[in-house]
Amino acid sequence: MRRHPSFVLVVLACVLAIGVTAVWLQAQTAKEPDTVLMKRATIGVVTFEHKLHAHDRKAACETCHHPARPGMPMKTPHQACSTCHVAKPAAPMKTSNRDAFHDALARKGVCIDCHIELNAKAATKVVAPVRCATCHIKEKA
Ligand code: HEC
Ligand code: HEC
Ligand code: HEC
Ligand code: HEC
Repeated sequence: MRRHPSFVLVVLACVLAIGVTAVWLQAQTAKEPDTVLMKRATIGVVTFEHKLHAHDRKAACETCHHPARPGMPMKTPHQACSTCHVAKPAAPMKTSNRDAFHDALARKGVCIDCHIELNAKAATKVVAPVRCATCHIKEKA
């Protein structure tokens, strides 16, 4: 069956548009960090080894980077948590920056659940930090 030339053009235009969008998205996407210094908590800086966690320790991206929520699209596929989760979130957002990582006593949360599970498996010594001061390190003066 012969297609009308304008149909072919429309298809080509679509293919081009998809290609341009893909390149644009790539440009918008931040590079995966090696180490992130997370400085928002006054009790101390968390040195988060992103590369170690995501690759050597094989934590799946989705463990921490959840998909976009209704009414709150992601600007990039792995947008920094802190751009949405702030200290005092404005309604309808409920999850504060702290709650994005752990609850008030650091007994559960994205960063804690796996550490607790790991430490429970290790019979002799604690391997991953679960106490405030082992994650939040006071900077030397
Ligand atoms: C254990 C949790 C965790 C895992 C697993 C993880 N990330 Fe992240 N990622 C983070 C945190 C925390 C940040 C820093 C966010 C901030 O500063 O608010 C981050 C930042 C990033 C950024 C930079 C975002 C920006 O705009 O600055 C990219 C890109 C990224 N991650 C991609 C990935 C990819 C791809 C994977 C899987 C291969 C992955 N991450 C796995 C927690 C994680
Ligand atoms: C584009 C904005 C946005 C980004 C970026 C984002 N979040 Fe969220 N997050 C939300 C929204 C919206 C909710 C829904 C709950 C609410 O209203 O607080 C949520 C909920 C959560 C929750 C509560 C449990 C749940 O699944 O509903 C956790 C934990 C969380 N985010 C962690 C993170 C972490 C860790 C990162 C970065 C790796 C991150 N978020 C990045 C918008 C975002
Ligand atoms: C899927 C499991 C998993 C998740 C989720 C996870 N961790 Fe870890 N974490 C580990 C492992 C494994 C170690 C290494 C323990 C050891 O030394 O044997 C570790 C160690 C650490 C350490 C000690 C220094 C280092 O990197 O060796 C810090 C700090 C840390 N994690 C912070 C975080 C933060 C912050 C988050 C959330 C953004 C997080 N972790 C989420 C598995 C996890
Ligand atoms: C596994 C590591 C880990 C442990 C253990 C931990 N935290 Fe955190 N906490 C984080 C990370 C990562 C953030 C995000 C910091 C940022 O965005 O700069 C955070 C954020 C916070 C914030 C919010 C800062 C803000 O204003 O946005 C507070 C408050 C906080 N933690 C207090 C505590 C307390 C108190 C404890 C002990 C009960 C604790 N944390 C244990 C990793 C940890």
